[in-house]
Amino acid sequence: MKYLIGMDIGTSSTRAIIINEDGKLIASASADYPLITPKPGWAEQNPNDWWEASIKVLRKVLQDSKVSPKDIAGIGPSGQMHGSVFIDSNGDVIRPAILWCDQRTQNQCEKIYQTFGYEGYIKLSFNKALTGFTAPKILWLKDNEPENYNKIYKVVLPKDYIRFKLSGVYATEVSDASGTGLLDIRKRNWSDEIISGLKIKKEILPDCFESYQVTARVNKEAANLTGLLEGTPIVGGAGDQPGGAVGSGIVKSGLISDYIGTSGVVFSYCDEPVYDSQGRLHSFCHAVPGKWFLMGVTLSAAGSLKWYNDCFGPSQNIKSQYPELKKYKLLDKQAENVSCGADGLIFLPYLTGERTPHADPYARGVFFGLSYVHNQDHFVRAILEGVAFSQYDCLKLIQEIGVKSDKVILFGGGASSRIWKQIIADIFGLKIATLNVEEGPSYGGALLAGVGCGIFDSVVQAADKVIREVEQIQPNIENNKKYKKIYEIYSSLYKDLKEDYKKLSGIGV
Ligand code: XUL
Repeated sequence: MKYLIGMDIGTSSTRAIIINEDGKLIASASADYPLITPKPGWAEQNPNDWWEASIKVLRKVLQDSKVSPKDIAGIGPSGQMHGSVFIDSNGDVIRPAILWCDQRTQNQCEKIYQTFGYEGYIKLSFNKALTGFTAPKILWLKDNEPENYNKIYKVVLPKDYIRFKLSGVYATEVSDASGTGLLDIRKRNWSDEIISGLKIKKEILPDCFESYQVTARVNKEAANLTGLLEGTPIVGGAGDQPGGAVGSGIVKSGLISDYIGTSGVVFSYCDEPVYDSQGRLHSFCHAVPGKWFLMGVTLSAAGSLKWYNDCFGPSQNIKSQYPELKKYKLLDKQAENVSCGADGLIFLPYLTGERTPHADPYARGVFFGLSYVHNQDHFVRAILEGVAFSQYDCLKLIQEIGVKSDKVILFGGGASSRIWKQIIADIFGLKIATLNVEEGPSYGGALLAGVGCGIFDSVVQAADKVIREVEQIQPNIENNKKYKKIYEIYSSLYKDLKEDYKKLSGIGV
């Protein structure tokens, strides 16, 4: 029997899994690291933390599974998208990586539009110039840290940095490279027009592969550190969203998923690249060769709940009622104490600005409608509902521009919360399905490794073989009617506050 490793370089942790040829999970391990926020709206991480976590989890899964390293057929990396790792000619990291949820590059996004025109840039990249993407971050470094900019030898994405540490090879693949803002997504390769227009040297970008292709092999140094066998193949892998889609079977027409992790993503598979002149959704290359996808992104989904938990934690009441339960299960119980609509408390989840549908780095979180009736339970329920409203914003765009379906497949941390699942079904007014596999991106990485190493014939065959639905949740029609009315207020709140967000940021607080 051969085995496959998937590893996901996430925002809060790195996770590795080993699966067998039948897709059965044999072992998993994860290791956490901190998020650094030097200023409001900035988000950085130390790439060495990812590498140390990777060594730890790879050693642990090999040890726990007792699988011999020689039986590992291949490795598929996935990772947080858009993070920019700047590397010098010695292979050393120049400064902390600037992450997907960092909002410092608004001026540089405007420069990109000045260079190509707003619609001109969208015509070239099929996407807006967004603050979290790589292209404006490279320009930001040039404008603000020229001494660091001059040292750049390569700019890579987070999972591609781990590929480099495992193999010494700089490479990327189409699904993650789509999120740089430098790819021609129709050609599935770098866009010479964008790159030369922005005066970026093409040599600083790694070669771009299809996600299933073998790109590199584990070298001696990494083999010693991780316990892997020298020469083990590493396939392209995928950005965490397309990787999660592969790992959740979103590899065929008509399928839509909703991922609730730190960010929240509504994702739909597409047979062709989809052009929208306003670039309202991300239009990227899928990890399925010759296919594409659309997605809308809520920057702070489970991230909003984590923020609440870190600041306030579960209530004393609920802890004494359920001493056996852990933090998020306790928060679920709190939300269950409150009915649909949180007695008029509405939450806007824009803790670090927003991407879809409001590409607005200045937006911030709001609790609206507070009164004396509200207690800690209401805050938790309002957060679950506010995140679901924001995902509904994304779903509506997907339904308008892309795909319609009566069902959405849910995965990520949010899928393990019964109450959150029901709230999402009620707000979407659609069936919510969950799957036999819940690993998402790392599972997708492992399947891609299986395709690249010949264990599966294709990404679609791999997904068909190992992924199936285990549960469907029906929407509650009464709740859906009530939520439709609340959604109208939720939507107008952003419009009413838009200018104030900007003013607040101008004060510098
Ligand atoms: C997708 C996105 C996030 C990150 C982190 O565009 O920015 O989902 O990939 O998970």
